[in-house]
Amino acid sequence: MEKTGPVTGDGQERDRHEWPTPGKTENLEKGSTMIGEKMQAALNEQIKHELESGYLYLSMATYFHEQNLDGMAHWMKLQEAEEREHAMKMFDHLIERGGTVELKALSEPQREWESPLDAFKAAYEHEKFVTSKIHDLVNLADEEGDLAAKAMLQWFVTEQVEEEDHASGIVNMLERVGDSGNGIMMVDRELGRRE
Ligand code: FEO
Repeated sequence: MEKTGPVTGDGQERDRHEWPTPGKTENLEKGSTMIGEKMQAALNEQIKHELESGYLYLSMATYFHEQNLDGMAHWMKLQEAEEREHAMKMFDHLIERGGTVELKALSEPQREWESPLDAFKAAYEHEKFVTSKIHDLVNLADEEGDLAAKAMLQWFVTEQVEEEDHASGIVNMLERVGDSGNGIMMVDRELGRRE
């Protein structure tokens, strides 16, 4: 038999065929944490959604800078950084479990909104969309019996509660101040304090 695999701790060379091909799950031992094809594809799709979220928030940051609302722009730039972290959690999960990361093309984000309220309403709607995608992933993990993905995704379930709460909280603030320039500046200052 051909011996080309890495050498194991006991000094024995492993047979190449004992080593799973990255991205494939055939012939895996029971109990392996190697990721299945379906979950891989779904996580790659979610990486795209997370990066697109960041791209959307970066576009909103540009819009807010153009409106001289630098506090809101600051909030959006930090949000964009969070979205990249979300994508990277899934990226690392795929890599750690012998999967393959497939980066996909991102859609061009919207550039203009009617008002800060309109932009934050869009951000809130977007977060609800992301939540539904995370819940779909949890259901898939259940169907696939993928406990490792389910454990990783639990973090996202909790995070989405926070994400929606933050976005809807800002929508409420902006609804309360309405068209008041002073009110909008006050919200801008408040959001500029985000760390
Ligand atoms: Fe990654 Fe804002 O959801």
